[in-house]
Amino acid sequence: MEKSMKDLVASFADQLKEAMAIGRGAKFSSPDKEIRNVVITGLGGSGIGGTIISQAIESNCSVPVIVNKDYFLPEFVNENTLVIVSSYSGNTEETLNAMNIALDKNAKIVCVSSGGNVIAIANEKGLDHIIIPGGMPPRACIAFSLTQLFFIMNGFKLIGDWFIQDFESAITLLINEEEHIRSEAYYLAEKLHKKVAVIYSQSNYEGVCIRFRQQINENGKMLCWHHALPEMNHNELVGWTIPNDKLAVVIFRNETDFDRTQTRMELTKQIISNYTPHIYEVHSKGDSTIERFLYFIHFGDWVSWYLSEIRGIDATEVKVIDFLKGELSKV
Ligand code: PA5
Repeated sequence: MEKSMKDLVASFADQLKEAMAIGRGAKFSSPDKEIRNVVITGLGGSGIGGTIISQAIESNCSVPVIVNKDYFLPEFVNENTLVIVSSYSGNTEETLNAMNIALDKNAKIVCVSSGGNVIAIANEKGLDHIIIPGGMPPRACIAFSLTQLFFIMNGFKLIGDWFIQDFESAITLLINEEEHIRSEAYYLAEKLHKKVAVIYSQSNYEGVCIRFRQQINENGKMLCWHHALPEMNHNELVGWTIPNDKLAVVIFRNETDFDRTQTRMELTKQIISNYTPHIYEVHSKGDSTIERFLYFIHFGDWVSWYLSEIRGIDATEVKVIDFLKGELSKV
């Protein structure tokens, strides 16, 4: 029987354990050429892992990591590029097009998918690939898609194996904090269900804001937006000019955020409080970047699920995405 979205969110820590076992067993062929840059290509629930890892490893990775969410690849991609193709279904047309371009450019390619055309092409061309469990909504499989990206980066010696301990600690943290996360997430969902959420964080955690936005969109079926500091202080802040009770601000914060940015956050809150009284802060737990990212992701996933419950809607269905993909396949 298919698991409900609630069960899938609840099983995040278990999924991470399973994903670690899959990653540990993954084998990669040696690249013919030195890897000088990485492009992770994928959309939606299969693209967000790329955004998260690119931020989580920015102080540990020796080469640039670019995240690509389109049909095309940047011009610099060549035989010195590792292209990671991420598509849960394996049938997303933008990702397949980017994969074909990577093949034409002789890039080193590794695929992460549950099957579909991506795995068919990988088998036909003899490309490295990791198969993750199928039959779930892609966004509910971030534990699998994200974890494999770390193993791939490590497999190509672009990061060390430090991430393994951080993932293990994150799993323990999430299990220990599950009750607290759920009750805080429910509290926030109650505050947000009739509002438009405006989500902020320090820019090196923007991936968390994007994930939360996407989950509010897809699970909660609601519009919202996000921005990051300090950049937001240089433009969006000026847009706060009219009191608007419909807007509710959520700020993801870490003790480790840069002190000047923390000061900016305090000042930003002061300014915004002239326009909405609804300002909520979410403080991360965990000693490492990976723990903090996974904590925020899990917290946001629960909020999005509670939003669907409070609003009495089906979190799982994304009929409009299916309709769009169906229409595109006809032309
Ligand atoms: O949540 C979803 O269903 C989407 O965001 C998909 O992840 C997106 O359309 C890409 O599909 P796939 O993950 O199969 O490549």
